[in-house]
Amino acid sequence: MNAIARVTKDVWTPAAKAPEPDLGNALIPASRYTSKEFMRLEWQRMWTKVWLVGCREEEIPETGDYITTDIGPESLLIVRGEDGKARTFYNVCNHRGNQVKFDKTGNSRTLQCAYHFWEYDLTGRLINVPDEQDFSQGCPRDQLSLKTIHTDIWGGFVWFNLNPDAEPLRDFLGIIPDHLDAYHFDKMAMTQNMTVEWDCNWKASVDAFNEVYHVQCIHPELLYNNDDVNIQIDLYDRHSRYLIPYQACSPRLGYEPHEVPEIVADYMHSIGMDPAPWHGRVPEIRRAISKFKRENQDALGMDYSDLNDDQVSDDYHYYIFPNITLNIFAEWTLFFRQRPHESDPNKMYYDVQFYNYMPKGKPRPPLPDHDQFKHGEKSLGLVLDQDSVNLPHVQKGTNSSAFEGLWISHQERRIRHMHKTLMDYIGENGK
Ligand code: FES
Ligand SMILES: [Fe+2]
Repeated sequence: MNAIARVTKDVWTPAAKAPEPDLGNALIPASRYTSKEFMRLEWQRMWTKVWLVGCREEEIPETGDYITTDIGPESLLIVRGEDGKARTFYNVCNHRGNQVKFDKTGNSRTLQCAYHFWEYDLTGRLINVPDEQDFSQGCPRDQLSLKTIHTDIWGGFVWFNLNPDAEPLRDFLGIIPDHLDAYHFDKMAMTQNMTVEWDCNWKASVDAFNEVYHVQCIHPELLYNNDDVNIQIDLYDRHSRYLIPYQACSPRLGYEPHEVPEIVADYMHSIGMDPAPWHGRVPEIRRAISKFKRENQDALGMDYSDLNDDQVSDDYHYYIFPNITLNIFAEWTLFFRQRPHESDPNKMYYDVQFYNYMPKGKPRPPLPDHDQFKHGEKSLGLVLDQDSVNLPHVQKGTNSSAFEGLWISHQERRIRHMHKTLMDYIGENGK
């Protein structure tokens, strides 16, 4: 996993291993995944204090475009203003509490409540109250305009923070922009957008993607294109990553395939590369793919010049605390967002979005329809179906009086790191 050193660009993802913090080896209490009291503490002390992704900029490109998004018990309204700025408001009318918008997306020049037609402008200011003279107490605009939430942009994503005293987004993201600006997420186009209702705690879903211990068990086919052993894990202040070599076989196979594995051959064909000369030279393929892609980047419509050789072939897998997971490849990114249920620690919402880099000169495709369904009603594809099958059973088991907590291995230490960050927010008297 040695990246080629390079000094000519200031946008460049560091590949060096971060120092290992000592996180101990204590049991992680099961109650963090099941208790309503812990869920309440998470809401009060963590979810309402962190920066969260609300939507993509491309979902609200024009003045008056809006999108509603739910996080826990709150509904938020993100709106593109006449000045081009994205703003986030609590989605609640200050007359009698109706939600200002019920639909998922739309466009309107003003934000009019559907109950008694109180009307707000795109900055959230109350501009019209029918029969205003009938309110003997008056309708003070400062008190009754929509409540605004801190909003900022990074990576083409619109972020919000429910904390009125929020630190700047850049401070919260820490190393993330320095590491990931090289991928130019703002140039990606969303190509799939799904929400799955899962019967598990949001952290059980986060955990499922922050370790590769399970790959040998539930994704055996990935052992032919995925080195799940030689993985670099880096734990930062709040966030973490692992770097997964792709188009490389796992040492767990116990032998070196002579033939190019079918899954790798299919990939080579997809980029116009002939696998035939690589039979008997399978360990050389990963680097050859990076080289081929660089040499043919114009034909592929790509620009790999900001990425190191590992990035051109591999998955740089980043976790942005608390609920964003990014499987980042040179040409596409798989985005997961785990959102807590409004009241039940045993349920959550799992958002899955695919993003593709648009080949040069190719127009952005129209936004995909958003599809929401319960786990099991539709397939998410082989690998994500494999990932999800255990989770309702994990949640059932975690609720058992016989289960005390998570017994975490070294290779699963991103889970322990996530809990450390979480408990830094929750504080001493959380469990
Ligand atoms: S609740 Fe919105 S106008 Fe009455
Ligand atoms: Fe998995």
